[in-house]
Amino acid sequence: MSKTVVITNQKGGVGKTSTASAIISGLAEKGYKTLAIDLDPQGNLGFCLGAEIDNSPTVYELMKGTVSIDKIIQNNHGIDIIPSNILLSGAELEFSQIGREYLLKKGIAPIVDQYDYIIIDTPPALNILTVNAYTATDNLIIPMVPEILSLLGISQLSETIALVKNIYNPKIEVLGILLNKYDKRRLLTKDVEEMAEIIAKELNTKVFETKIRSSVAVAEAPAHGESIYQYAPRATSTKDYRNFVEELISEKGMKLDGKEKQ
Ligand SMILES: Nc1ncnc2c1ncn2[C@@H]1O[C@H](COP(=O)(O)OP(=O)(O)O)[C@@H](O)[C@H]1O
Ligand SMILES: [Mg+2]
Repeated sequence: MSKTVVITNQKGGVGKTSTASAIISGLAEKGYKTLAIDLDPQGNLGFCLGAEIDNSPTVYELMKGTVSIDKIIQNNHGIDIIPSNILLSGAELEFSQIGREYLLKKGIAPIVDQYDYIIIDTPPALNILTVNAYTATDNLIIPMVPEILSLLGISQLSETIALVKNIYNPKIEVLGILLNKYDKRRLLTKDVEEMAEIIAKELNTKVFETKIRSSVAVAEAPAHGESIYQYAPRATSTKDYRNFVEELISEKGMKLDGKEKQ
């Protein structure tokens, strides 16, 4: 059985896409069979992973059911990718039928068992795309940056998770909050860390032990068509993401049953 993880936070700029990309590349580097799904109409995850996004069928066609999944999945450097593009931005209006919360889950159903890990990136919103991601997965990771403003809106996030848990997917759990762009020396960091702990309790989860420090490598690597591990193996954030991947796969809900990595 594959393990699915959604990276979510309705705030933009907290590192969802960077984290999704770093987790996927880290898992692939360790030999796991991985699938990345981009649910953000901005298409950044597909771009980071080197997918062609402008003239190819994407997760939009997958959810509409108009193109078969084997024609949508791309492969680059050993990572399978279901990309996204701007066509997906009309989803809220276009997907209005009964059962619209299950479109992604249904779309990927034929192939989920082919993977060890499936990582889904989401838009900076709480909308039908987010609900589709939560319905298709069992685990959520919430990246946050150490700014007071980044803590606002958590109650809406919490309500959306509760709604999905009650109606569409009782198995959904928040694995943890991941502090990104972390700097121990900054004055506010301690306050934010304490608040993150409080939020984690509210969400019935924890703050991950690994924190991701800032480094320009995170922003630069995609432009070079490389993962952070290839582009800047010694950068602080690369080390942190490497540690985070280890922390993640040692989580109880993330261990692959009976199957060791290839
Ligand atoms: N640890 C980090 N160090 C430096 N820059 C980062 C880090 N994490 C994210 N960024 C940068 O911050 C911006 C927002 O990150 P992104 O992953 O796109 O966030 P989101 O997907 O939540 O909108 C990007 O320019 C990205 O390169
Ligand atoms: Mg993003």
